[in-house]
Amino acid sequence: MPVPRQLPPPARTWVDRAEELERLDRLLITAGPTRVVVTGLGGVGKTGLAVRWLDAHHERHLDSVLHVDLNGWSGHRPPATPQVLAGWLRALGVAADDLPGEVAELIALYRTVTSDKAVAVLVDNARSAEQVQPLVPATARGTILVTSRHRLAGLALAGFRHLDLDCFPAATGAALLAGLLDEARQPLGEDLLHALATRCHGHPLALTIAGAHLAAHPRRDPAA
Ligand SMILES: Nc1ncnc2c1ncn2[C@@H]1O[C@H](COP(=O)(O)OP(=O)(O)OP(=O)(O)O)[C@@H](O)[C@H]1O
Ligand SMILES: [Mg+2]
Repeated sequence: MPVPRQLPPPARTWVDRAEELERLDRLLITAGPTRVVVTGLGGVGKTGLAVRWLDAHHERHLDSVLHVDLNGWSGHRPPATPQVLAGWLRALGVAADDLPGEVAELIALYRTVTSDKAVAVLVDNARSAEQVQPLVPATARGTILVTSRHRLAGLALAGFRHLDLDCFPAATGAALLAGLLDEARQPLGEDLLHALATRCHGHPLALTIAGAHLAAHPRRDPAA
């Protein structure tokens, strides 16, 4: 059975977020399990930051890296807790025949299996603290990162710290555009990059879409 490494692939072009990554590093250094909820508006870079940080700390989570998308704002139904736990437990080596039918027993087994493991869990797009609570691994050596467009204040009671993401300043937005366009061999002048980054309000998803569009249609005037 392969060691589970379930993270989505990292972004090819990455800019900045040094301050936020350092903040996560500092939260990791404190004793005990690391529990953080990353919040911010849609497309601001929550999943990207979580994946980037977990990738950089690969050596701390050698036993397994688990991921689930709870579909918070996608319009799709969230996967049910028993379904998520059953999938993770199978990935952690529990045979399908040994999975209990009761959700409370599944939670208990998940806690038992993770209790002595260096495990990282990424719970993406959670809408409520209640959805997250049964997915918290029991290990003191582990990490759980949650992303949400909501603050999920209820998670503070479970020891979660909070990190809020904002859009990029214009210079960082311009650097992201430059990276995307250089990758596509379609470089653009500094002034145009800045103007476009400002028009996108430094929003990472808007910048990524604009960059991809310009790379695909290099003759289009980006200021238009
Ligand atoms: N620091 C960054 N450098 C480069 N690209 C970034 C960065 N942060 C985010 N992006 C890009 O911006 C887009 C949106 O990022 P991401 O999917 O992480 O946002 P999100 O906050 O998780 O959105 P949602 O709320 O919809 O889940 C992605 O294409 C991502 O690659
Ligand atoms: Mg996301």
